[in-house]
Amino acid sequence: MTTPPADAHLPFADKSDPRFFGKDILSISQFSRNDLETVFAVAREMSQIVEHGGGSELLKGRVLTNLFYEPSTRTSSSFVAAIERLGGSVIQINNVTYSSVSKGESLGDTVRTMESYTDAIVLRHPEMGSAAEAAIAATKPIINAGDGAGEHPTQALLDAYTIYEEMGAIDGLTVTMLGDLKYGRTVHSLARLLALFNVKINYVSPAILRMPLEFVSEVESAGIEQVVTSDLKAVLEDTDVLYVTRIQKERFDDQVEYEMVKDSYVVDADTMRCAKERMIVMHPLPRIGEIATEVDQDPRAAYFRQMEYGLYVRMALLALVLGKA
Ligand code: NCD
Repeated sequence: MTTPPADAHLPFADKSDPRFFGKDILSISQFSRNDLETVFAVAREMSQIVEHGGGSELLKGRVLTNLFYEPSTRTSSSFVAAIERLGGSVIQINNVTYSSVSKGESLGDTVRTMESYTDAIVLRHPEMGSAAEAAIAATKPIINAGDGAGEHPTQALLDAYTIYEEMGAIDGLTVTMLGDLKYGRTVHSLARLLALFNVKINYVSPAILRMPLEFVSEVESAGIEQVVTSDLKAVLEDTDVLYVTRIQKERFDDQVEYEMVKDSYVVDADTMRCAKERMIVMHPLPRIGEIATEVDQDPRAAYFRQMEYGLYVRMALLALVLGKA
């Protein structure tokens, strides 16, 4: 008698892609350019599935846990929409004060509990490294939905997919990241991801909110040209993708410091007049005034379209991780 493969209990195992199936998604570092191309291709299929009938039964019977220790609108609801559009369901834990966490339960024990009931756990947590810690405790896939000021890999994947769909390619572009590059986890993951392409990256921020050296050195060793400045005007006219971020108030130890930098940049109609005709403005959202609402009508404003691309990317990731693409 032959021993069944370890994943034999999973109905889609025969069609799974071993690069993704059953794997954690903890950091952008785990992806190759080829992996990204697969995610983009599956995301595109997902957009067609949604367009043609709203969804499919690909993940029927699958149950996801959304475990959120920090606020979220987009990440949390797009994972709900993604699993439900693929025929699965979700247990949503987003108010940990009403769960055993408020009794002092450790992250590891909470994760072990939820994996007894569900097939994968999407985790958002205020501490850097928490997703990796959860992955050690868990046997089922952990998807990092933001670990403090660390990383936000699924956001970077949807950001890259947005760039790819809107601009037709990622190679050859100049991407300018603006705002809180120190605490903004989305830009940490995005810088890592862009290092897999032939791009130029400008980092525009107040001096105290610069992109951490760790990321700059890593991107540098990939041979990517990078510019660090506080002056948006100096780089705006060469920019193909302007990626705006919120100053991350909740990460400052000193709120006086936050007050000093909170209004450093506002992208408005004037900014857009100085920008290329063919470029896009992105933002992971929420925005707190760093993009004036007058920009929303500009066809180059891609931040609302970005959310829809996010649904397709998260559907793709769930399909790949839970076994079928
Ligand atoms: C971002 C996050 O949580 O890091 N939001 C998101 O996931 N779309 C950005 C932010 O909170 O500023």
